Amino acid sequence: MTSRQSSLFPDLFQECDIPKPVNVASIPQRSPFRYPGGKTWFVPTFRAWVGNLYPKPKVLVEPFAGGGIISLTGLFEKLVDRVVMVELDEDIAAVWLTVVQGHSEWLARRIVEFNLTKESVIKEISKTDVDVKERAFQTILKNRTFHGGILAEGSGFLKYGENGKGISSRWYPTTLARRFTDLNLVVSRIEFRQEDGIEVIRQYSGQKDVMFFIDPPYTAGGKKAGKRLYRHCELDHEKLFAACETIKGDFLMTYDNAEEVKSMAREHGFQMRLIPMNNTHHATMEELVIGKELSWMDQYPAVHEPETEYRTKKVPTNACTRTRRPQRASRR
Ligand SMILES: C[S@@+](CC[C@H](N)C(=O)[O-])C[C@H]1O[C@@H](n2cnc3c(N)ncnc32)[C@H](O)[C@@H]1O
Repeated sequence: MTSRQSSLFPDLFQECDIPKPVNVASIPQRSPFRYPGGKTWFVPTFRAWVGNLYPKPKVLVEPFAGGGIISLTGLFEKLVDRVVMVELDEDIAAVWLTVVQGHSEWLARRIVEFNLTKESVIKEISKTDVDVKERAFQTILKNRTFHGGILAEGSGFLKYGENGKGISSRWYPTTLARRFTDLNLVVSRIEFRQEDGIEVIRQYSGQKDVMFFIDPPYTAGGKKAGKRLYRHCELDHEKLFAACETIKGDFLMTYDNAEEVKSMAREHGFQMRLIPMNNTHHATMEELVIGKELSWMDQYPAVHEPETEYRTKKVPTNACTRTRRPQRASRR
């Protein structure tokens, strides 16, 4: 949680109005998931990023797709021609595979016809040896009835939910069904791959007309959040940063604002900005955005380099000084 300390340089802060967190209710929700760590709040930045790229990339690769809000927004808003969504989790993969195999209508019907009670959900999700469509339905049921939408081991049913409605408080069958049928409008432009995201980055990294939105599980430096939220949370973060360095097109990466992450970004010569967002508990946090060239994000506070020997006065970390470092100048 951030509380901006009152500044020794009040003019500096007044001048540069740090943006407020995005109101996610104002963003069209295209994803059928309520995804832990979902990036709906990032949609306005994503739009600005694409708008700033010239020539416009044709393909967006999302190597850690999860609920896929960024890919889906790219397609529905015609920001890109095609997306490649990558996700290792078998449950999540079952949903995207069902969609790309043309069974969105089937899933939509299954959802509206289901009579949801705790007993019916338990009966349904206990079924083993199911095909990919039924597994997709089980995933949606779990995602909508488990606490925080979390599918990882140890997750349990919503206790109170919205307005004390418990297990059914996030079950909006008509809305959900419509999200699936709407996906038919863009499905021909989706390629889904249940593979390792870093490998897929490497496969596309040489192509200049490909952009990457990279949102890995936040586990760098032993951070716990990613471990609790995702079944697949072990990631070689250094290997991911090395893969990003090979990207010929453009990429943006989101991470938690952790020292280990910032040093890796510096090590690889990337730039960083901090974006405010409201987490599920409505607390304002700052998330780190990492990329090659982020001058188009100058309204957001830059992350400063560690103190250098010749600097004698401390600059407040949240001051939006407009200094920009030349690419790779900061390798150390
Ligand atoms: C932070 S979440 C992505 C959330 C997504 N951006 C959204 O808006 O819903 C990270 C995702 O990466 C997946 N994941 C973890 N390791 C992976 C890997 N090596 N390759 C592909 N996906 C992976 C996790 O299962 C999780 O769904």
